Amino acid sequence: MTILVTGGAGYIGAHVVRALRERGDEVIIVDDLVTGIATRNAEVPLFQMDVAKSSSVDELAQLLSSRGVTGVIHFAARKQVGESVAKPAWYFAENVGGLANVLLAMERARVGRIIFSSSAAVYGDARGFVAETATKAPTSPYGETKLVGEWLIDAAARAQQLDAISLRYFNVAGAGWPELGDQMALNLVPMVFERLHAQESPRIFGDDYDTPDGTCIRDYVHVMDLAEAHIVALDALNSKGGRHRVFNVGTGEGTSVREMIDVILRVSGAPFTAEVVARRPGDPAQVTADVALIAQQLGWQSSRNIVDIVESAWAAHQRD
Ligand SMILES: NC(=O)c1ccc[n+]([C@@H]2O[C@H](COP(=O)([O-])OP(=O)(O)OC[C@H]3O[C@@H](n4cnc5c(N)ncnc54)[C@H](O)[C@@H]3O)[C@@H](O)[C@H]2O)c1
Repeated sequence: MTILVTGGAGYIGAHVVRALRERGDEVIIVDDLVTGIATRNAEVPLFQMDVAKSSSVDELAQLLSSRGVTGVIHFAARKQVGESVAKPAWYFAENVGGLANVLLAMERARVGRIIFSSSAAVYGDARGFVAETATKAPTSPYGETKLVGEWLIDAAARAQQLDAISLRYFNVAGAGWPELGDQMALNLVPMVFERLHAQESPRIFGDDYDTPDGTCIRDYVHVMDLAEAHIVALDALNSKGGRHRVFNVGTGEGTSVREMIDVILRVSGAPFTAEVVARRPGDPAQVTADVALIAQQLGWQSSRNIVDIVESAWAAHQRD
């Protein structure tokens, strides 16, 4: 069984590639290395290709056939919310266009299984415990590309021979191996590390929210738990298919920004205290995943906690 992982040189993709290989699956990577790092899994065949280019359909289809690929895990995408607000058409071309090309190639090569990286961003300004059935109202073009991506997969699953699972990740953090850490400071944990590295206090954007300590609450899932969710999803597609199913991937537990920063300061031993600054526009007070569906249908649940996340992320950061 050979799995093609698009975006397999990226932070999450590299973890899934390694986890697949550790259990004996053959893997090939397609990545244009725009944010990916080829050395993350240097021993795995990597085909440098921009999947958003229409010329990639032929190349991908040929690769799928010649390598005997049985399933695709599609991570390749742009993921910067601010950039998507500035360049919406380009984001749709990259994220939705890239997915369409992958699906076209799969149809041509008769590959019928795909796992798609979706995001909690599809829920937009959701609050509290968010189930898969919650209103989808993305607040950025990035989130919209993920929701449209799910619709596209849904339509393709109905029209062509395709079984699919979309996984809506909540806040991904940590590292399964120290050399595979998140090197982009877009999320809370790497952003705090960046401040500490610059000898500056970590910042809390608002402590007057309606939460127990006044700071925003989010659901942080360890990237290794997330990688395992992909493996379980792949096995579910292999065993009974099921057309297109969509699952949240989180822990079901909320952690406040202050709690997270306290753990980071404790683990790093950095001599700082958090500094409270003004709220950022558009941050909902509390967003936590309802994870009942994935537990019930795929038998997956997270097993790592906030300290595991911070310790592993810090160990990875020390290597950078
Ligand atoms: N990191 C998170 O917290 C998070 C949360 C929700 C969803 N996601 C989604 O998970 C996926 C992986 O995210 P990540 O955090 O690993 O990001 P990442 O930037 O580290 O990985 C993305 C990978 O895709 C590659 N890529 C991008 N555009 C490409 C293209 N057109 N052709 C070929 N390769 C391309 C990049 O080079 C990179 O290796 C993305 O789809 C992202 O939207 C991430």
